[in-house]
Amino acid sequence: MGIKEGIKMEEEQGLTRIGVSLPSNLLNKFDGIIRGRGYSSRSEGIRDAIRAYIVEYEWMEREEGEEIGTITYLYDHSQRGLGDELTEAQHHYLDMIKTATHIHLDEENCFEVVVMRGEAKKIKELAEDIMSLKGVKHVKLTTTHGGI
Ligand code: NI
Repeated sequence: MGIKEGIKMEEEQGLTRIGVSLPSNLLNKFDGIIRGRGYSSRSEGIRDAIRAYIVEYEWMEREEGEEIGTITYLYDHSQRGLGDELTEAQHHYLDMIKTATHIHLDEENCFEVVVMRGEAKKIKELAEDIMSLKGVKHVKLTTTHGGI
C-alpha cells in the first residue's frame, strides 16, 4: 500500500466538516482546475489537494544526505523589504548556493531559481525560509541524488 492509499484509508474513518476562508481569486482558479479535471465536487478536489500536499511534505521530510537541489519561487517585488529578506536568507547558505538566477517576469512578479548542493535538510531549510516570507507566492523545491 502506497502513502496515498494509506492517507485515503485513514481519512475514510470519518469526515469532519471545516470552514475555510479563501481569497475569491484563489477559489475561482481552484474551481476552474477541478472542473477541468472532472471532480464531482469541490470537497473532493480539496481532499485530493490536501493529500498531495501531505505526500509531498512527507517525501521532503525523508530526504537526507548530500543532494543537488533547486528552489524556484515567484514573488511580488513591490512587497516592501522582500528583496532584502530573500538576499539575507540566501546569505545564510552561501557555501551551498552554486548559482541563482533572477527574471523580471512582469510589472509585479519576479521569478528566481537557486541551485544548491549539500545536505538535503539544509536545502529544505532555505526553501522553508523563503516560503515563510510575506509576498512570496509560490515555492517549488526539487532535489536529486544524481550519483553524488
Ligand atoms: Ni525582478
